[in-house]
Amino acid sequence: MQKAQNNTAFDANRDSLLDAARRVAEHSYSPYSNFRVGAALLLDNGAVVTGANVENVSYGLTICAERSALVRAVAEYGPAIRVRAVAVANLNGAASPPCGACRQMLAEFAEPDAPIVFPSEGGMRTMTILEMLPCAFEMKLK
Ligand code: THU
Repeated sequence: MQKAQNNTAFDANRDSLLDAARRVAEHSYSPYSNFRVGAALLLDNGAVVTGANVENVSYGLTICAERSALVRAVAEYGPAIRVRAVAVANLNGAASPPCGACRQMLAEFAEPDAPIVFPSEGGMRTMTILEMLPCAFEMKLK
């Protein structure tokens, strides 16, 4: 299994990607939870695409920051995008690992060794998508 911690290309970008995630978290629309999350994706084309969580009075319609960034990246750069690194931040000083739905969506676009850095209980943590979501859903029809 690839270890995200060994990705040197990411080390140089880590802080700026985290800054971008923190900045976009200011745009979070989260009047119901007051939990403000931002995500920043580094794409294989060098672009950084950000997203924030957008809640709804019908709570289940809420879009997380990570998925908000992913759909924005596809809309902007097309369906062939690959995600080289991900940073997640929140403005609440809390842990916020990507939720299960976001992991499944990240699995669709993230390169296997893409580091995903997020706030965890013990400080910032970095993992690959395979570490975060072993056995992701795949559709292999016979
Ligand atoms: N949230 C995210 O933006 N990303 C995640 O991976 C988990 C949760 C948001 C959704 C909701 O607006 C708020 O955090 C509280 O659950």
